[in-house]
Amino acid sequence: MPARLFLSSGDLVADRRFEFARDLQLKGDLVAAADLLLQATELAPNFASAWFTLGEIRTELGQHDAAVAAFQKARAADPDDRHGASLHLMRLGAEQVSAMPRAYVQALFDQYAPRFEQALVDDLGYRGPSLLFRAVLSIRAAARKPAFFKRAIDLGCGTGLAAAAFVKEVDYFTGVDLSPKMIERARATSLYAELEVADMVQGLRGQPDASANLILAADAMVYLSDLAPVLSEARRVLAAGGLLAFTAETHAGDGVIIGAGLRYAHAAGYVRAAVGAAGLALAHLKDLSARNEDNVPVPGLVVVAVKS
Ligand SMILES: C[S@@+](CC[C@H](N)C(=O)[O-])C[C@H]1O[C@@H](n2cnc3c(N)ncnc32)[C@H](O)[C@@H]1O
Repeated sequence: MPARLFLSSGDLVADRRFEFARDLQLKGDLVAAADLLLQATELAPNFASAWFTLGEIRTELGQHDAAVAAFQKARAADPDDRHGASLHLMRLGAEQVSAMPRAYVQALFDQYAPRFEQALVDDLGYRGPSLLFRAVLSIRAAARKPAFFKRAIDLGCGTGLAAAAFVKEVDYFTGVDLSPKMIERARATSLYAELEVADMVQGLRGQPDASANLILAADAMVYLSDLAPVLSEARRVLAAGGLLAFTAETHAGDGVIIGAGLRYAHAAGYVRAAVGAAGLALAHLKDLSARNEDNVPVPGLVVVAVKS
């Protein structure tokens, strides 16, 4: 997991109380930790990291309303919401499921970048790129077309694992990612002809109509609640016959929920409807998991859509 984000309160004593509280939290003494965190917020009322940690502890203690109040304070203290308090508020049912704070995604992956591949591939058995590769090859084989793509765009490209899986089949790769540190790692691979620090939808908006033959999003749609904007931009940017291939996390209910891992899970019915509404044809939708959580495969989907 990425290192924990810490935003100093600017008050040495409050910061020290926070550190003691974290020690207590890690040792399992949640009540004493919560008490120290409250003291820290009395010294520094806008101490976002203390409010956020208090929210987590209160959640663990089953104190729903007090947890909601703490997460609200954390977000008020840091309106960019780098800790992602909004996601906890969604999970606690205090707010409707909505977009992830951009600053949270950036802070998370900037911190994660140095350990990302080891954590994801070795610890979580990540297999998103190879699942997408197999799905794309099977669609091309069924259509009796070569699996070669002149121009491909890798959305939420991270360090470049999806581009590495497809590199022999692609002439020109563009990568788009919100995290500058992930983009730095991607640049070091030399797999990409172009890289852009941008939101996925924004990155697609900068691309001409019908200019890409393949768009990939490996373990990236899990950071978007509403898939409609990215799907409709993908349709515009794809050339006729072009493919959009992505993984998603899923759940047995309807619509979009926020899962325990603080990523969105899209129901298969939601994905089918969203792909159709964007004017793409669904070529492949399979129940396949791209990663494990606590050594158990996270329910997932592998999706390929075609622009006709
Ligand atoms: C779990 S990583 C997957 C990276 C890569 N696709 C792979 O398969 O290894 C998710 C990546 O998506 C990026 N990301 C999340 N939300 C994004 C958004 N709205 N726009 C662009 N990138 C985003 C993150 O910064 C991160 O690098």
